[in-house]
Amino acid sequence: MRIVVTRRIPEAALVELRALGEVRVSTQDRPLEPDELRKAVAGAHAIVSMLHDRIDESVAEAAGPQLRIVANVAVGHDNIDVRTLTSRGIVVTNTPGVLTDATADLAFGLLLTLTRRIAEGDRLLRAGQPWSFHLGFMLGSGLQAKTLGIIGPGQIGRAMAKRAEAFGLHVVYSGRSEPKETLLRQADVVSLHCPLTPQTHHLIDAAALRIMKPTAVLINTTRGPVVDESALADALLTKQIAGAGLDVFEHEPDVEPRLLELDNVVLTPHLGSATVETRTQMALLAADNVTAVLTGKAPENPVRT
Ligand code: GLV
Ligand code: GLV
Repeated sequence: MRIVVTRRIPEAALVELRALGEVRVSTQDRPLEPDELRKAVAGAHAIVSMLHDRIDESVAEAAGPQLRIVANVAVGHDNIDVRTLTSRGIVVTNTPGVLTDATADLAFGLLLTLTRRIAEGDRLLRAGQPWSFHLGFMLGSGLQAKTLGIIGPGQIGRAMAKRAEAFGLHVVYSGRSEPKETLLRQADVVSLHCPLTPQTHHLIDAAALRIMKPTAVLINTTRGPVVDESALADALLTKQIAGAGLDVFEHEPDVEPRLLELDNVVLTPHLGSATVETRTQMALLAADNVTAVLTGKAPENPVRT
């Protein structure tokens, strides 16, 4: 069996995969270009993919008819053409559950960083600015008794709600069926936890931003294209909303340049699941899924169309 891993992953997962056959790990310290990816997967029975790899029919074609599984090391699978792969009999798996707490922690961290101006204060000190404590100095806003609107009430959304409730926020939800307008009108904090699908692309666009309160903040730890990033920059510049905490970007790794200039924006480079513990568990779960499929068993985390 040949297992192709598109980018370096924790050793524990490689040890598990090596028990199945020949493991080829990309030696590049960057995402593979589409043609490099197609070349790399030739002859693979299993592909262990990352969220930046576009896995479509051409990749399946390049791998060959023996390809049995694509194990994405991510909970999101918008990078994979699941329908096409499934119709070719290829199993697609993801890594839900193990990154729920880490991602909710980061979302809440972005929120606190924004509302208590933590990153801004850090920049002020590093810039060597003179300062002194006074009652009007660098005031943020409290979260207690505020309303958090969660769009996408899945595992991560509910974990975010749990943290918010512990901090005294009131939580409202909007799922696939409930209209989001009411939530956008009410919420002091809007936090996005829905997957990226054709239906959620630009879910937060200029019109949605206009509905939000001028005091509201937006937190995005799901996928960049759920937000129209240019419309968001406009809304922040014209003070239609008060701030944003973003871990994901519409054109990753690029960031809309106007966002970089704003103090009421906190930015992190897609770190939602980035803890040693979580990344190890994600890689192990992907390896478990590969092991199951290559040994003729049902994988734990199949993605269904
Ligand atoms: C990370 O963004 C993931 O989908 O796991
Ligand atoms: C603030 O630092 C206080 O002591 O109240």
